[in-house]
Amino acid sequence: MKPSFFHSSLSLLFSILFQTLIPQPASALPLSTSGRWIVDEITGQRVKLACVNWASHLETMVAEGLDKRPLDEISKTIGSMRFNCVRLTWPTYLVADSSVEPSGSITVHESLRRLGLNASIIGIYTYNNWILDQTLIQAFKAVVSNLGSNHIMVILDNHITKPGWCCNYHDGDGFFGDEFFNPKDWISGLTKMAEMFKEDYNVVGMSLRNELRGPRQNVPDWYKYMQMGAEAVHKANPNVLVILSGLDFDTDLSFLSNKKIELSFTTKEVYEMHWYSFTNGDTWNLNANDACSSVISSVMSRAGFLLSHGWPLFMSEWGIDQRGENNNDNRYLGCFLATAAALDVDWGLWALQGSYYLREGIVDAEEFYGVFSLNWERKRNQTFLDRIASLRSPFQGPGLNHALHTILYHPTSGMCVNPTESSELSLGSCDSAKGWRYTKEKLIQLQGTNLFARDFGPGYNVTLSDYSPDTTMKWDLISATRMHISSMNETDLCLDVGRDGYTLMTYQCCLGEADQDCDPEGQWFKMVSSNRPVLQYVLY
Ligand SMILES: *[C@@H]1O[C@H](CO)[C@@H](O)[C@H](O)[C@H]1NC(C)=O
Ligand SMILES: *[C@@H]1O[C@H](CO)[C@@H](O)[C@H](O)[C@H]1NC(C)=O
Ligand SMILES: *[C@@H]1O[C@H](CO)[C@@H](O)[C@H](O)[C@H]1NC(C)=O
Ligand SMILES: *[C@@H]1O[C@H](CO)[C@@H](O)[C@H](O)[C@H]1NC(C)=O
Repeated sequence: MKPSFFHSSLSLLFSILFQTLIPQPASALPLSTSGRWIVDEITGQRVKLACVNWASHLETMVAEGLDKRPLDEISKTIGSMRFNCVRLTWPTYLVADSSVEPSGSITVHESLRRLGLNASIIGIYTYNNWILDQTLIQAFKAVVSNLGSNHIMVILDNHITKPGWCCNYHDGDGFFGDEFFNPKDWISGLTKMAEMFKEDYNVVGMSLRNELRGPRQNVPDWYKYMQMGAEAVHKANPNVLVILSGLDFDTDLSFLSNKKIELSFTTKEVYEMHWYSFTNGDTWNLNANDACSSVISSVMSRAGFLLSHGWPLFMSEWGIDQRGENNNDNRYLGCFLATAAALDVDWGLWALQGSYYLREGIVDAEEFYGVFSLNWERKRNQTFLDRIASLRSPFQGPGLNHALHTILYHPTSGMCVNPTESSELSLGSCDSAKGWRYTKEKLIQLQGTNLFARDFGPGYNVTLSDYSPDTTMKWDLISATRMHISSMNETDLCLDVGRDGYTLMTYQCCLGEADQDCDPEGQWFKMVSSNRPVLQYVLY
């Protein structure tokens, strides 16, 4: 999409203003919680986690990609893609004593040599040769500290016990007491890591354990062991956020609606959940609209409800095959983005890595969910990154005190509805999005004006107009997702985007019903509540 001059100059001006108005992370840490928000402990202002997952838990126990690009360039690129945080994964073996094989006391070189990864050794020698003779622990610390010098926050995620690809229901590494999941070793590992990174100001949180799962998972043991893990981490480093994941591959925290976990500390407790298209595999074969509605209710009852109970929820893994070829992923993405925007949650994209040294027996395995390409030189899909961009800044929360308004968010493009200088409605930046108000009378009013969105019939521009009492200004929220905005003048017309990719028009509603050969997602507009600053609209 090519923004008009009006939009680009406005967003430039705005991004300058914005830097000073929206709390920027990673300068003043540590973090704590205030109700459902994660905040800067000193200023009390919201810090929204916009993380990317970086794997360091596979067989090598080395952060992926050091054979492809210098560490500092990787960190700088994470910042330039405007992620403010990395969820860095580690296996418990990294800090096991040296009687466990392999442990973190062997060198990077040795770890790769044992696995026969000669090409990776040559790659690391080329790009990060200083790290080859460091122990795995030293190398892990070097990654954390380099991220810190690039102002990237880190969440240390205990991903698995035994290094390797995660996760499988029957891998014996999924729940407390499993073959590879001794709770004592886990507590000792968490304690060591918490102590080791106490002085690293950019380590802001620790995920206690990734994706609990398996035939032995049960709620009583969840309370028992998660409490022990949380207390151990807090005791070793009282500054970090303690992040608790749910059962069933971290998709289920529903049991918390009945019983709170007892902890000796406050303002550090955060929950995490994972949400992929394969979380609800078959559902996405339905039409995207019905599927989205059903998946959202499941997500809300399994974890989303925590927000309204005053607990922060970190969507710590989500993502898609960025080649754009997986239909379920494509249907899921718009639904995820709309929900993540409306809930204004903290999040962590899977994944950073474009490749793995070794994954499931495959050398130099490609990660199609990764933002980097196979050789880590380019971004895999800039369109995807642009589409998720508007989720990075907070819409609401402590520190954002501007008048409450509604943003009309279009998840298919990742853009928001703004008026043009000639009073048409058009998609543009969400960072400088105009404030709307959806009134009791079902009018869509441009906040602070007496102008309203008006339908001029199918294939015509939707335009801002002075109030008129007819039905061309009334809009209903319809369909299973209520993300279709239908004209009440002609009820089979819905708000849509014209062929130019940004001018708003009305077209026949596409609800994805069996007799309709169309994609309902293009007509999704999510009303997102926001306290962001809004520039005055000047009608030329
Ligand atoms: C890897 O390098 C070692 C030492 O240079 C050599 O002995 C071994 O054969 C190589 N392995 C492969 C798979 O090329
Ligand atoms: C990038 O992702 C979009 C969907 O988000 C897809 O349509 C497109 O084909 C992808 N591009 C590449 C180069 O993979
Ligand atoms: C409103 O609906 C009426 C009746 O369906 C139609 O004749 C008229 O053209 C519509 N007006 C607009 C602006 O679409
Ligand atoms: C519709 O809006 C676009 C974008 O603002 C504008 O270029 C176009 O001339 C408008 N079309 C009509 C018929 O007014």
